[in-house]
Amino acid sequence: MAIKKINFNAGWLFINDWQDSMRYPEYDDSAWQKVELPHDWSIEGEFSEDAVSFCRGGYLPGGYGCYRKKFTIPEECREYAARLYFGGIFRNSEIFLNGHKIGGREWGYISFEVALDEFLLSGENLLAVKVDNHEALSCRWYSGSGIYRNSFLEFSGKKVILPRWGIEVKTLSAEAEESVLQISVPLKNRTSVRQKVQVKCEITAPDGTRIWNLDEPQWVASQIEGTFYRKVKVSAPLRWDLETPHLYTLKCQIFSQDELADTAEIHFGIRKLVFDAEKGLFLNDRPVKVNGVCLHNDGGALGAACGKTTFLRQLRFLKTMGCNGVRTSHHPFSEEFLDACDECGMLVLAEAFDEWQEPCSVMPMLRGEPQRMNDCYYSAIFDRCAISDLRDMVKRDRHHPSIFMWSIGNEVPQMYKYSGGHIAGMLRETVKNYDDTRPVTCAVVSWKVDHNNIALLDVGGYNYPTPAQMDEFHAAHPGQPMIITEHYSAQTRYPNGRYFAKGKLAELADVHPGKMEFINHIDNNKPGEEAAKAVLERPFVIGQFIWTGWDYMGEPTPYDFPAHSSFFGVIDICGFPKDGYWYYKSVWQDEPIIHIASHWNYLAGDTAEIDVISNCREVELFLNGKSLGRKYAPERFFWEVPYQPGELRAVGIAADESEVYDSFATAGEPLRLVLQESLMQRSAADSVVYVECQVLDGSGNRVPTAEIPVTVEVTGDGVLQALDNGNQLSCEPFQKNKTRSTCAGRCLAIIRVTGEGTIKVSVSAPGVAGDEINID
Ligand code: GAL
Repeated sequence: MAIKKINFNAGWLFINDWQDSMRYPEYDDSAWQKVELPHDWSIEGEFSEDAVSFCRGGYLPGGYGCYRKKFTIPEECREYAARLYFGGIFRNSEIFLNGHKIGGREWGYISFEVALDEFLLSGENLLAVKVDNHEALSCRWYSGSGIYRNSFLEFSGKKVILPRWGIEVKTLSAEAEESVLQISVPLKNRTSVRQKVQVKCEITAPDGTRIWNLDEPQWVASQIEGTFYRKVKVSAPLRWDLETPHLYTLKCQIFSQDELADTAEIHFGIRKLVFDAEKGLFLNDRPVKVNGVCLHNDGGALGAACGKTTFLRQLRFLKTMGCNGVRTSHHPFSEEFLDACDECGMLVLAEAFDEWQEPCSVMPMLRGEPQRMNDCYYSAIFDRCAISDLRDMVKRDRHHPSIFMWSIGNEVPQMYKYSGGHIAGMLRETVKNYDDTRPVTCAVVSWKVDHNNIALLDVGGYNYPTPAQMDEFHAAHPGQPMIITEHYSAQTRYPNGRYFAKGKLAELADVHPGKMEFINHIDNNKPGEEAAKAVLERPFVIGQFIWTGWDYMGEPTPYDFPAHSSFFGVIDICGFPKDGYWYYKSVWQDEPIIHIASHWNYLAGDTAEIDVISNCREVELFLNGKSLGRKYAPERFFWEVPYQPGELRAVGIAADESEVYDSFATAGEPLRLVLQESLMQRSAADSVVYVECQVLDGSGNRVPTAEIPVTVEVTGDGVLQALDNGNQLSCEPFQKNKTRSTCAGRCLAIIRVTGEGTIKVSVSAPGVAGDEINID
């Protein structure tokens, strides 16, 4: 794929505008904003009720953008073919080199390359990228706008190359004693004469030892892509698994007349997947229930412009909850995300589309009024783009061991009609052309099932089925494995940090009169708990993906402006766990869990409804040392407690007789701030650091009612990139601002690393003592 690969993220100029003259070298861009990729201009903007993206896109701006960059090809690369690789540009990109159009991509979720050679100059070159995201709705969620993933300048020989995403490592068998792999290496001869190349390949095991190599001549006919295949036996393979995510590496080099012409390197895993219609999924001969979450691809205050560190933080945190799977709803995610899943041992249901030819309808808000829509979402380009977009997704991502299944769509209206069968069949075939090792599913809503279309899938994928429907669909499709592609989560619909005692529901920022009924219905965690139980009790269900693991930008159902991010997650958009997190921890893990939901700072005279989330067999609740009674599972661990300041303490006895407890003390006045790095498992390649700030009282309790403005200063080898507090209703900008109010007594700073030295972070707020930390 490239002999030399140069990171091309630095040194761009940007403007939130487009005119045709911007593509030409002589255009004066001296007043433009200096940016580094990945970059998302929407997240830098201000929230506005009039934004065309409306609640779906988080009320943030879209529009047109232009990026320009001057560059010169390094001396030592001049004899090679040059191209640019973009991980993703949202959307309708057009790339111009020295004024000439050289490529682009309509859909924003697909990686692509453009060849530079035709218009490349030996001196200075001018690259201009037009981005058009002016028509919202561009999706049903926040997409971000701009060159929001990495870009690279790449070089390879001019005659014979290893085409991008061509190499395939297919696991033919993966037994514990021996695995058989089939390696396919396509070679493309771009000249008009037959070419002889020397192909050198090697596979290294996770510990770095070389376990296979090849060094052979190969003839490639002119202007064609010829593939050669080899079978490789690996004895006693170190299989990729959830706790031991071992990765092997395949390196290929091709030489033309003793000169290196191209190289490629991929990381892959060896693992055995068996899908059983009665017993569910087996990974390396072990039954695995997929305890998964759906995710959208934003990084909260970073918007769409986030990289591997953000994803690793999300995934590691989800793992602490017992989560072992994610669904990439509802489009291809970045390579960095999938690399992070490979490394963390997370199963991925990789999804392609949210819409086929027919536009999907966005749910009306509770009062029944339709949300604004336009018809330029994916349905407008499906016919001309779907096959190539799907092909590129599968070819780019098929070597990731974390991906265990593909999904060709989410709740697409055509899946419920006769005509959809044809499209489902075509998309399934497209996937199989490039990867026939994994099953294909499609997420359909359970109240609109077309059984003929479901039968076309390898695995039946259902969104939100009742337990009775799970049984009914299982009976209707004997022999077809089943997965719950989307399901209710144990979620909190109150805005973060707003706590209400019984009978004291406050008027919240929402224009929909039905909201309180909706919130009360959902907020008791019950639908999520019932859903989780139904899945765990049915061996034939492979698993489920709850909606969602983290809160995401857009879709703030059931609220309206100023609410701009979702309430569905069991972890908020900053990474602060909600009560639902503890529920999943208690059912998806074996260790004894006890958690009081969720503070002890009510007003005098309140009666609080206290839920204790626990997998213990019995729980006793104490207020200021006095027992409020003992409850036994499966009874709900629930108490109505007349509020008195002091300490609320829950003590649980687990099945193994061990004792666990959780407690909350009534917090006093805010006294000081304290900083702490979030999930300190950094690696050298990290580009951002997450720092949490908490407001504490004199006894060290976080003050859950504290909403105070915290100012963050960053010096040394880092700059402040974004601030957030998880409050879906706050219209404070995420970026270009040094101050953020706390919500529920905390906020989050995201710092971009600019060098290898120390970063010093300090915080201050009126009336409380500040804090500072050094990050090495
Ligand atoms: C589902 C849909 C998701 C999300 C969710 C919100 O039906 O697939 O994308 O919109 O509803 O409840």
